[in-house]
Amino acid sequence: MEDSAHKAVVQESFTRQAEVYAVTPTVADPSRIERLIEAVDPAPESRVLEVACGPGFLALAFAARCREAVGLDLTDAPLAIAEKNRQERGLANARFQRGDADRLLFADGEFDVAVCRFAFHHFEEPGRVLREMARVCRPQGKVAVEDLVSSEHRARGDYQNRFERLRDPSHTRALAPSELLALFTAAGLEVERLYSGELVQNLERWLANSQTPPDRAAEVRALIERDGREDLSGTCPYLEDGQWFFRHGTLAVVARNLRRSAGV
Ligand SMILES: C[S@@+](CC[C@H](N)C(=O)[O-])C[C@H]1O[C@@H](n2cnc3c(N)ncnc32)[C@H](O)[C@@H]1O
Repeated sequence: MEDSAHKAVVQESFTRQAEVYAVTPTVADPSRIERLIEAVDPAPESRVLEVACGPGFLALAFAARCREAVGLDLTDAPLAIAEKNRQERGLANARFQRGDADRLLFADGEFDVAVCRFAFHHFEEPGRVLREMARVCRPQGKVAVEDLVSSEHRARGDYQNRFERLRDPSHTRALAPSELLALFTAAGLEVERLYSGELVQNLERWLANSQTPPDRAAEVRALIERDGREDLSGTCPYLEDGQWFFRHGTLAVVARNLRRSAGV
């Protein structure tokens, strides 16, 4: 595993957040998971890799309908929750292991499907991770990513990414939709399906989940409340019954691996 200061930050953050993250309604939401699986449309004999699997809900849902699912994550605490979830569901064809998305310790073309959800905004080099996902996926197999996205207008996207990083330093950058799509093309992946969505966030609950220290939480509040008055990021903050809410835009992209043979 390649160490970096950022990876240590990711591990610290997701060790601290593991329990709360695993019970966040949008994370476990079966309809959101089903939508992504339907878009991927895996064959029953598929071997599926979930990169940065966290508590493993997506990998387990694939395991329930495919031959095998492997979930990989940098952080032990969410992996332990994923394993507990696996045992509770009695799925013998799923396994979870520690690993780094930057360097997948799998052979070329080992999987029929490689997926990653809600994690690209934590990666230092998302293009590198996508190329790794394409490498371990067989020719003509499916590669899918769902993630938060930011505005196509760079200054507005930067405003969102600034308050995201203040709230959770493991956040690197939510890409704009066109940037995510360009990474697919550069990795030799042909986009077949895409859909957008949103997650409505209650600001105080969102800050509590990340256990952001009070001084930084105050800065985040100030940035989001200003955004609500001046429309600065595209996350559309609004005040309802005395509480601030804002919107995370999401994009899911499902693509076919254009490589003709493994290793090419
Ligand atoms: C927001 S959680 C997403 C979990 C899960 N995919 C889901 O859909 O709920 C992000 C996860 O990415 C993992 N992660 C971040 N960087 C990683 C890397 N370089 N390699 C593997 N996992 C990584 C973190 O440990 C964390 O569990």
